[in-house]
Amino acid sequence: MEFTIKSGNPEKQRTACVVVGVFDNRKLSLAAERIDRAAKGYISDIVRRGDMEGRLGSTLLLYNVPNTLADRVLLVGLGRERDFRDREYYKAVHSAVKLLNETGAYEAVIYLTEEKVRRREIGWRIEHTVIAACEATYRFDHMKTESSDVRRPLRKLTLSVPMRSDLLVGETMLARGMAVGEGTELTRDLGNLPSNLCTPAYLADTANRLASMYSTEVKTQVLERKEIEDLKMGAFLSVAQGSEAAPRFIVLEYKRSGVKKKPIVLIGKGITFDSGGISLKPGADMDQMKFDMCGAASVLGVFRTIAELKPDLHVVGLIPSCENMPSGRASKPGDIVSSMSGQTIEILNTDAEGRLLLADALTYAERYDPEAVVDIATLTGAMVVGLGHVASGVFGNNEALVRALVTAGDDAADRAWAMPLWDEYHDALKSNFADVANVGGRAAGSITAACFLSRFAKKYHWAHLDIAGVAWKEGKEKGATGRPVPLLVNWLLNQENRDG
Ligand code: BES
Ligand code: MN
Ligand code: ZN
Repeated sequence: MEFTIKSGNPEKQRTACVVVGVFDNRKLSLAAERIDRAAKGYISDIVRRGDMEGRLGSTLLLYNVPNTLADRVLLVGLGRERDFRDREYYKAVHSAVKLLNETGAYEAVIYLTEEKVRRREIGWRIEHTVIAACEATYRFDHMKTESSDVRRPLRKLTLSVPMRSDLLVGETMLARGMAVGEGTELTRDLGNLPSNLCTPAYLADTANRLASMYSTEVKTQVLERKEIEDLKMGAFLSVAQGSEAAPRFIVLEYKRSGVKKKPIVLIGKGITFDSGGISLKPGADMDQMKFDMCGAASVLGVFRTIAELKPDLHVVGLIPSCENMPSGRASKPGDIVSSMSGQTIEILNTDAEGRLLLADALTYAERYDPEAVVDIATLTGAMVVGLGHVASGVFGNNEALVRALVTAGDDAADRAWAMPLWDEYHDALKSNFADVANVGGRAAGSITAACFLSRFAKKYHWAHLDIAGVAWKEGKEKGATGRPVPLLVNWLLNQENRDG
């Protein structure tokens, strides 16, 4: 979709549709009021009759509104005025765009951007209008023989700003929103693609494609089994060994020329299918384990976004990728493997595989002398129990880093919540036969998983995002969400201005 911004009166827009808000007590927004005045009370009349109560996300499409130049006026409910905050804003835009996409209008001018949102300036509103619009129009149906394509999809959205002096910051944030939208879309596409197509090799191809699209800033290196063996990544390889699909260790590097900063390393869990291995998962909903590479997909999505925006940063992406399958060659419960760090691991449950590959990737990250390392993983079912589908869990060994990630998520409407990582939890991982066990029992499953990872992340500032609850949706809307790309991009762009 195409996006532009401009400043001007709603009643004077020659367009297929003008979008304006109505609050819950039937109070018209400023833009709605302007149209109402031009149309001599036409809108307030409709609102008074009870056809638009202003309930958040409700919509009413009007045609031939007198004395306006637009073909249509779309009224969008904003909910109660004093409760109108960032999430409400996002939701209102989302439902407006969803409806526009299904009408005959292929372009529109949206005035919701002019509404006051607590703590969110015009730049934020522009960026998040674009992100919400991308999310609302996303589809993944190219694998259906009869595509359910919208016949006249929304092709162009113009965002209105209150003053001409807003146009400059508006343009910047428009570009930012579009880049985040595109990155998120890549992440969603990769997540939704089934595991017979989205293999470790496919993820590597995707990385290589990014490197050829943005050849000055992005470089990649793809390690195959032999090289992974040479690195002595015994933990990663023990997961890969049960599968016919060959593993890949993907390295991406983004760097603006002249940037002297220490790199930030992002590590994404890339299990393209998690059957559980010999500790086989139950059959129900096992298809959802194709989403077990969403951490990897978010790293690729972030690279897409930053390659587009070109901030002054140095970012490394690491993606250990393989399948977790049962077979005669698969790891068995009780097996002991030697990780790249030298620590030995007793695999008590082959379904706790994510932490094994992350352990080796965390050790590999040491060679960059990083400023910070953040891993992103659909790591534990316990995280879904803990925080549901609302927030990612953040763990880490540096409080400032954890806080910065939580704040970045807040600002991006892509929330994360800090979880404890106290010494007491480490006891659960004691093994009678190796340095550490790969599971710690049912209690505090997400925390003991993070404790396991922390043993491999001692040499730098590190944080871990458990995205098991937020990376995809179940049920009727089953599909990847693209989270936490908005959080990560926000956090990275905040780093652009740090010293050093
Ligand atoms: N990929 C799963 C985690 C997961 C499960 C994410 C369900 C989202 C929904 C991970 O590899 C896994 O299987 N974890 C186990 C760990 C357990 C064996 C300690 C889990 O959470 O059950
Ligand atoms: Mn598993
Ligand atoms: Zn897994």
